[in-house]
Amino acid sequence: MIGLRRGLVRGARISALGVHVPERVMTNDEISRFLDTSDEWIASRTGIRERRIARPDEAASDLAEVAARRCLESGGVDPTDLDLVIVTTISPDHMMPATASIVCERIGAVNAGAFDIQAGCTGFVYGLATAAAFVSANIYQNVLVLGAEVLSKILDWEDRGTCVLFGDGAGAVLVQPTDNGSIFSFDLGNDGSGAPFLNIPAGGTREPATLETVRAHRHTMHMTGSEVFKFATRTVVKSCAKVLGDAGLSVADVDLFVPHQANIRIIEWAARRLGFDERQVFANLDRYGNTSCASIPLCLHEACQTGRLKKGDTLLMAGFGSGLTWGSCLTRWEL
Ligand code: ACO
Repeated sequence: MIGLRRGLVRGARISALGVHVPERVMTNDEISRFLDTSDEWIASRTGIRERRIARPDEAASDLAEVAARRCLESGGVDPTDLDLVIVTTISPDHMMPATASIVCERIGAVNAGAFDIQAGCTGFVYGLATAAAFVSANIYQNVLVLGAEVLSKILDWEDRGTCVLFGDGAGAVLVQPTDNGSIFSFDLGNDGSGAPFLNIPAGGTREPATLETVRAHRHTMHMTGSEVFKFATRTVVKSCAKVLGDAGLSVADVDLFVPHQANIRIIEWAARRLGFDERQVFANLDRYGNTSCASIPLCLHEACQTGRLKKGDTLLMAGFGSGLTWGSCLTRWEL
């Protein structure tokens, strides 16, 4: 590690992947039957056509458990060999304990430490950076990173400005050591002055739950969409340029760009500004909406399945979200 530049991590790789989404599909047309909106508005402003919605009895850990099992199976790793389980989420099962503790118990990861990371929709990139750091520092060999969200339960279904944007899902990656010189380049950032633009106002210690907070829908996601939009386009471009520069690579070297799936207009704007052509950019939000911490692993899985992401490819991932946070990661794909 000594001698590497800030943000560069050597000797860790993503070695397995698993995902899970709920069965139930909710289309834009279905939403327009109970809210003053339309498929035309949602699709043209966001690129989203449908999203998955968890069952009433399903929480983030339920989706995470299935994704974790699939990931471990594909990597041929026994849950008892896991050293650490990190769940990234903005829709945890509870304020406490950590969702990661529940997932560990469910999958039988009896030898693993467990904690959650809350970094808005950037959580998955933060989780990956944390896992890569643990592995490359030779502290742990098998770290499972999950992005798991049941956002449908923290939305105000009377607010057309937010509820149409999000969906439920989970993805998991296994991070293990590698000796082939593989490098992760990370850029993690935060601007807390933007905290009011995307938050759940009540339910924490700032505004504890009361009958009034419940009546006022203050336990659901509140967003000033235009501010988040401006922030996202600005930071994704800057952050991606930084990780590319740190690794001595250019946009032309990137085989696949997988940005957080919030809005197709953000993705297209950032991709254009960076100089990507559309064959380098992956998007699947038309079918899943914004699944926050799960969006990048859901894309990775689909990109692998469809042959868009292949062993040896150079992969660039970029996230942004509440905080306001951002994070980018450049790596070689080794699956
Ligand atoms: N259907 C119909 N009309 C709508 C809807 C809807 N679902 N939502 C808003 N409108 C209306 C508004 O009321 C407004 O009407 P008015 O002009 O009469 O007041 C009009 O459409 C325009 O509203 P804007 O908010 O200006 O629409 P905009 O084009 O900015 O799109 C959107 C809104 C899609 C939310 C956009 O701002 C956006 O995508 N922002 C980024 C959001 C984001 O990425 N969030 C996730 C971050 S990640 C995380 O951590 C969770």
